Amino acid sequence: MPISPVEYDYICQLLKSECAIALDVGKEYLVELRIGILAENEGFSSAQNLIQQLTQKKEPQLVKKVVDAMTTNETLFFRDFKPFELLHKEILPHLFQRQSGAKELNIWSAACSMGQEPYSIAMVLDQYFAQQRSDWKIHLQATDISFTCLNYAKDAVYNQFEVNRGLPISLLVRYFEQENDRWKLKPVIKEQVQFQELNLIEPWPSYMPKMDIIFLRNVLIYFDFATKKKILQKVRQQLKPDGYLFLGNAETTLMIDDAFSRIDSLYNVNCYQVNSRNNQ
Ligand SMILES: C[S@@+](CC[C@H](N)C(=O)[O-])C[C@H]1O[C@@H](n2cnc3c(N)ncnc32)[C@H](O)[C@@H]1O
Repeated sequence: MPISPVEYDYICQLLKSECAIALDVGKEYLVELRIGILAENEGFSSAQNLIQQLTQKKEPQLVKKVVDAMTTNETLFFRDFKPFELLHKEILPHLFQRQSGAKELNIWSAACSMGQEPYSIAMVLDQYFAQQRSDWKIHLQATDISFTCLNYAKDAVYNQFEVNRGLPISLLVRYFEQENDRWKLKPVIKEQVQFQELNLIEPWPSYMPKMDIIFLRNVLIYFDFATKKKILQKVRQQLKPDGYLFLGNAETTLMIDDAFSRIDSLYNVNCYQVNSRNNQ
């Protein structure tokens, strides 16, 4: 049975307040599908039944599971490829030179989904900057709101379809071990990344270091204008002066936060820096 407009509206409001995801009109089918699967797993008779239970008692664990179920986690290794070229050829060489005194580098993948993004960064570091990898203090942090994604990312065991998407065969052979029909990431890459749960619309932990590079790719698209603006303002405070922000191909800071400028590069990537007069 399809969910009613009132039930759909309830889920839209819940997502908006819990994680700022703004569902478009006409996404009822998505709610029916995803909440339907969750309902079955949680022992409810239907999606409607689960929503009804929530409206009567907003049980935090169930809310968390609804948010988790409703996130879109599409991702792949070396997504769009060029951002990783820019990272390898321009940004990392520049940062390793600029910070050769402190020998410290902080990188954050801020909506890391199932781990392909931070592990792609870790592979770039291991392949091309082996010396800095051993001599420097490199902190590679990855966060997401979805506990299911984070558990998958921490396991770092991918299926054939996932490793076929974006991962060059040379890197598959070098960094993964085959286990039946799955591919297990080797510790040399896996151990470089620290995963944590973090909701971007909640306060960010004060212990989080200032970042040299933030990957915030393909997540702002789910938020409304006011939320994008707030998050970009927090990103500005979290970035070191002259730090770099990577957004997805369909995302921009333009008309949202004019303190950022897109960097000029051969690679034509949505990579931004804070204008020097707007630093902090
Ligand atoms: C489409 S994936 C993008 C993954 C990766 N950055 C990429 O570009 O391939 C979007 C991710 O954003 C996460 N997300 C959505 N809302 C969030 C929020 N409020 N806080 C943190 N993560 C969120 C989802 O769980 C999902 O894993």
